[in-house]
Amino acid sequence: MIFTLENMSLGVAAAATQIEGGDLGHSWNDWYRRGRIKDGSDPARATDHWNRWKGDAGLMAGMGLRHYRLGIEWARICPTRDMADQAAVARYREELQHLRELGISPLLTIHHFTNPMWFEDMGGFTKAENIEIFLDFVALAVRSFGDLVSEYITINEPNVYATESYYFGEWPPGEKSMGRAMTVMANMAVCHIRAYGLIHHIRREMGFDDTRVSFAHHMRAFDPKSPMNPFHRTGTRLMERLFQGVVTPALCRGIFKWPLRAPATTKRGEYVDFIAVNYYTRTIVSGFSAGTRKGAPLNDLGWEIYPEGMLRCLRAHYGVIQRPIYITENGTCDNTDAFRCRYIYEHLKALCGSGLPVERYYHWCFCDNFEWAEGESARFGLVHVDYETQKRTVKKSGEFYRDVLRAGGVTEELYEAYVKGQEYHD
Ligand code: BGC
Repeated sequence: MIFTLENMSLGVAAAATQIEGGDLGHSWNDWYRRGRIKDGSDPARATDHWNRWKGDAGLMAGMGLRHYRLGIEWARICPTRDMADQAAVARYREELQHLRELGISPLLTIHHFTNPMWFEDMGGFTKAENIEIFLDFVALAVRSFGDLVSEYITINEPNVYATESYYFGEWPPGEKSMGRAMTVMANMAVCHIRAYGLIHHIRREMGFDDTRVSFAHHMRAFDPKSPMNPFHRTGTRLMERLFQGVVTPALCRGIFKWPLRAPATTKRGEYVDFIAVNYYTRTIVSGFSAGTRKGAPLNDLGWEIYPEGMLRCLRAHYGVIQRPIYITENGTCDNTDAFRCRYIYEHLKALCGSGLPVERYYHWCFCDNFEWAEGESARFGLVHVDYETQKRTVKKSGEFYRDVLRAGGVTEELYEAYVKGQEYHD
């Protein structure tokens, strides 16, 4: 055995908008109509999971998967502010029930980047008064699914959402203001803190005492291009702080540091039951610009592959609050599945030898899916999707993942069969 998984369980992750399909009146349907998806693909297609959920669950079970991080689509459940679509709720319940029957336990994400347009039109998360509206949805979700789900992610990657949507302007609503991005991050911190208490409260009322809640934090490693250059070093510290450093204490402990403005109503406390980190890459900083190190191994979107960075991020997070660790996303854009086995191998190996209490690893993602502004052309899946026919085919990396699960780690034979010979490109 090269390494064993020990206490770490493997699963897969997905987000509602990226797989379900449907024209539901949400911010990504709108962004598509505004011509903002790079390859012109339509999120209304995606992997048509809304209609194919049973087949997908069967495929998952066949691969031996026992953990699935999935999302719900706010615009589908609440097509208007005051309406809950009971048919949509019933259909999610059917899926969750079926997953449990197959022995797959769900980790439910309540918000993953997408807003109903009625919420977007009210100003979304830029307005503190809209926090209550989000909390109404959280309460609805937990009352609807609380008997089937004990583990929750309130919000996926508040920092990525705030920066892409309000600073870089690449995602809806396409604004470019650092101030707005920081306001959104602070408001989302309050949303998480209050949702944390609310989810526990509702599930306690329902008679459950096994609730676990967190938010999924997108973390990346940051390093200066020239470590001796003070301008690069300061830029690195600043970027790290603005992008992720202030997020961890705010959402985990209610400690708001500059430039996040402390809201009057939140108290310091402990607001996560597990650490949830999504990790992909490292950023190399020179002053105010971000890039990659020359000659570094890159994925098909040009992101550096740097497994040690994941441990650095986990240690930083663990330094703020000590909880069991879930890697809620890790994976790579590899359109031809040429190096994904090596990527998985190296990241799992790093985790298993880290001495950190990592309980779960959710690979991003199960099936290739709608990759936000990149559309259908960036493939992250263990399962290949032919979008024209919606045919699913397990990739070599999917077979590797299945075999690692079966073996409880990576044996010499698995290494020989799947990893050896795979090279990254630069
Ligand atoms: C997001 C996913 C996305 C993945 C790959 C994460 O930041 O949560 O929705 O598909 O990265 O880009």
